[in-house]
Amino acid sequence: MSLPKRVVLVGPMGAGKSTIGRMLAKELGYRFLDSDRIIEDRCGANIPWIFDVEGEDGFRQRETAMLAELSEYPQTVLATGGGAIMKEENHAHLKRDAVVVYLKTSIEQQVERTRRDRNRPLLQNDDPEAVLRNLFAIRDPVYSRLADIVMFTDRKSPRLVVRQLVNRINPRTPRHKRQIRKEGRNHA
Ligand code: S3P
Repeated sequence: MSLPKRVVLVGPMGAGKSTIGRMLAKELGYRFLDSDRIIEDRCGANIPWIFDVEGEDGFRQRETAMLAELSEYPQTVLATGGGAIMKEENHAHLKRDAVVVYLKTSIEQQVERTRRDRNRPLLQNDDPEAVLRNLFAIRDPVYSRLADIVMFTDRKSPRLVVRQLVNRINPRTPRHKRQIRKEGRNHA
């Protein structure tokens, strides 16, 4: 079995998509892309500003256009925003030539990891935990349906999650061969 063209990480806010995605990309010798960060770079504004000025709908339109574009890139690990799965039309972009990984995380962990965050407009209210619970109820079945791999992240270090993911994505490649492929890419 060879490596997939792309690995796409889906899951809720606070699941660790960016941290794990960056480490996984390094391990596979792939480039790491984070759709939210690229939207911010292109806009020259952060996500709260985009929500303020264009509303959530405006942000979702940008997100769909971004996912369409990023689904063309080979040899990438892509971290997506937690709501990227909610538009049916995004599913084809997310699945194209990709192994889709759902980083499944308890509400407690999501709350803990997003506690001091000011960059997530959906959580800037009196009861972010209730929002996360509500989103989980709606989105968990969608993440699960879309995913090729469901990986639990609670009580695991990012390193361990990455090791388990590499084994799931390409179980037959021994570690020294992955290293050789990585070095080959670095010198290309
Ligand atoms: C969102 C998650 C955020 C970001 C936006 C909306 C969501 O990304 O796309 O604030 O709807 O769950 P992260 O999952 O990376 O926090």
